[in-house]
Amino acid sequence: MAHIAYVNGAYVPHSSAVVHIEDRGFQFADAVYEVIAVQHGKLVDGDGHFDRLARSLNELSIPMPMSRGALKLVIRELLRQNRAQFAALYLQVSRGQAPRDFPFPSDIEPTLVMSVKRLKPFDFERTSQGVDVITIKDIRWKRCDIKTVSLLAGAMGKTEAVNKGAFEAWQVDADGMITEGTSSNAWIVTPDGELITRHTDSAILGGITRHTVLKLAADQGLKYVERAFSVDEAKAAAEAFTTSTTAFIRPVVKIDGDTVGTGTPGPFCLKLLTLYGQHMERQS
Ligand code: PDD
Repeated sequence: MAHIAYVNGAYVPHSSAVVHIEDRGFQFADAVYEVIAVQHGKLVDGDGHFDRLARSLNELSIPMPMSRGALKLVIRELLRQNRAQFAALYLQVSRGQAPRDFPFPSDIEPTLVMSVKRLKPFDFERTSQGVDVITIKDIRWKRCDIKTVSLLAGAMGKTEAVNKGAFEAWQVDADGMITEGTSSNAWIVTPDGELITRHTDSAILGGITRHTVLKLAADQGLKYVERAFSVDEAKAAAEAFTTSTTAFIRPVVKIDGDTVGTGTPGPFCLKLLTLYGQHMERQS
C-alpha cells in the first residue's frame, strides 16, 4: 500500500502531510472525525458514516468542507493512489485555521484531512477470538454523541486497558452503568437471551457498527433492547461483546478478570459476527 494523504485539496506523501499550528483542531480539538472500514476496496456503511459526519459538523456549526458527492470522489482517488483494498480511512474536519481565540471565528474555511491505514481483511477465525475488557470511570464530557477529535480520555483509558493486558476499557458512569468502550460500543446478552446495548443519547457515540448490528439482529427476528446496563449485570451476562468499525464484533470473555458466561465466545455473538461478515461482503 502506498502512503498518500489528502490535506485541503492536495494529495501528498504521508510523511510530509501537515496542518498549521494555528489550526483549531490542534489548539482546541475543534474538529470532528470519521473512521470508515474499507474491504475489497469498498467503503463499509459509507452512507452511515457520511450521515454521522454531517451531524457532528452540524452540532458544532462547522460547514461541510465539500459536497458529499465530491467527498466520495476524493476518497475514491485517495484509495486508488494508496492501492488500498483493506484499510481504515481516517477523515478529520476541523473548523479551520485562525489566530488563537476561544470564540468560533467566522469566515474561515474548514480543514479537511484524510489518511489511510492498513486494516487486516475481515477474518472470522481471528475476529471471533474472545478478548478481555476492564472497566474504568467515564471521565469524558457530556456530548459524546459528537465524534470529536477530543480523544484524550479514550487514549488514557485504552492505555490502562493495554497495560493490564486487556483489549478495551468499558467506561462506567456515576450510576454504575456502562456507557461504552473507549473506541467501541458495549453489548451483552442476558441469561434469558435478550440482546442489550445502551440506548443512544449524549453519553455515547451512535456507532455505525452498532446500528448495523441492530439491523442485522432485527432482520433475523432476534430480540433486542436498547437500554443501559450495569457492570454487575454485564458480569452476570451470558455473553458480552464490543463493536466498532475497525474491530468489527469482538466477543468479550472477561470483564475485570471475571469470566463472562462460559468464558468462550457465545452463539449469539458468533451468529452476529457471521452476519456482519456477510454484510461487509455486500458493500457496493
Ligand atoms: N471509534 N464509541 C466510541 C467512543 C468510538 O470512538 C467508536 C469508534 C465507537 C464505535 O463506532 P463505529 O461503530 O461507528 O466505529 C463507539 C473509531 C473506530 C476510532 O476512533 O478509531
